[in-house]
Amino acid sequence: MRVGVLTGGGDCPGLNAVIRAIVRKGEMHYGDEIVGFLDAWDGVLERRTMPLDVRSLRGMLPKGGTLLGTKRGSPFDHADGPERVVETFEDMGLDGMIVIGGNGSITVACRLFDLCGLPIVGVPKTIDNDIIGTDVTFGFHTAVQIATDAIDRLHTTAEAHDRVIIVEVMGRHAGWIATYAGIAGGATVILVPELPFDIDEVCAILRRRHDRGRYASIVVVSEGAEPKPESFAMPEQQVDQFGHVRLWGIAHVIAPLIEERTGFDTRVVQLGHVQRGGTPGAYDRVLSTRYGLAAIDAVHAKAWGEMVVYREMRIERAPMRLTLGRTRTLDLTMYRDIASVFFG
Ligand code: F6P
Repeated sequence: MRVGVLTGGGDCPGLNAVIRAIVRKGEMHYGDEIVGFLDAWDGVLERRTMPLDVRSLRGMLPKGGTLLGTKRGSPFDHADGPERVVETFEDMGLDGMIVIGGNGSITVACRLFDLCGLPIVGVPKTIDNDIIGTDVTFGFHTAVQIATDAIDRLHTTAEAHDRVIIVEVMGRHAGWIATYAGIAGGATVILVPELPFDIDEVCAILRRRHDRGRYASIVVVSEGAEPKPESFAMPEQQVDQFGHVRLWGIAHVIAPLIEERTGFDTRVVQLGHVQRGGTPGAYDRVLSTRYGLAAIDAVHAKAWGEMVVYREMRIERAPMRLTLGRTRTLDLTMYRDIASVFFG
């Protein structure tokens, strides 16, 4: 078969490992020809491609980023976009396409399958771990490790100066990274989008800790966390060119409030894109490899409109349609029964 591959949306550690696995099994087991499309859907619209073979993937397993390049945006942003995608499939003789992406890219893939009948299979990726239907996405555990390493370092400097350090982590509207990194890093408080917080309660936890003779605190805040309406008003957030809210900066909003109300010297660290960069951890390399192998198998099973998912330690398939308009938010038992036991 002639199979296209693209990576869409924000990058995450493990993308190259997925591509490597697709190519390895595609070429060696099925005798496929694999074509990589550059810069996500732009490469499909503009027919910018690169051949992918086992040789070209050497050394890519531990590499972060994506050798194909990635972009946000969709063919549906252009009036003739879907039509041009169909033409690319026909003219290039593609028998199938594997789309490796987050909620946005999987939605686009699903629409192209539903509306245009294109033979597409999805692979869920994102550090945010917020895709419905799969227990874990690759990239998540690496991002959690990066955040945890940072928190470990911040503990020592916070203790040296008896400070509160607010650590802002990514995750969009899901508190997975914040909760896992907060538990692993021994945070004093964790703030997640799923549970609006009261700034006075946060200050009370910090004060209680100090009253017990402990000092220096780490507050982990998810970029999408929000205060309860009666707590304080958030400044207006910017929207990007695709209409998504740019979640950035809540740590800077709460730091002065905490300093003012508690009197504790407070600093801010926004981890930002460092959480997406660099080499995937071992867990993500294995998960990416399993996803890649399952994706090329799904192509040969003609499981169009489906994505590969990880459920209870097994790789399975689920309809991409499952994810439409929904995100997988934090399992609140992780927060209520585990994380919060250690607050204060
Ligand atoms: O979805 C992954 C993610 O890293 C989010 O956690 C974050 O909000 C967003 O992407 C940042 O996007 P960009 O790379 O476009 O700034």
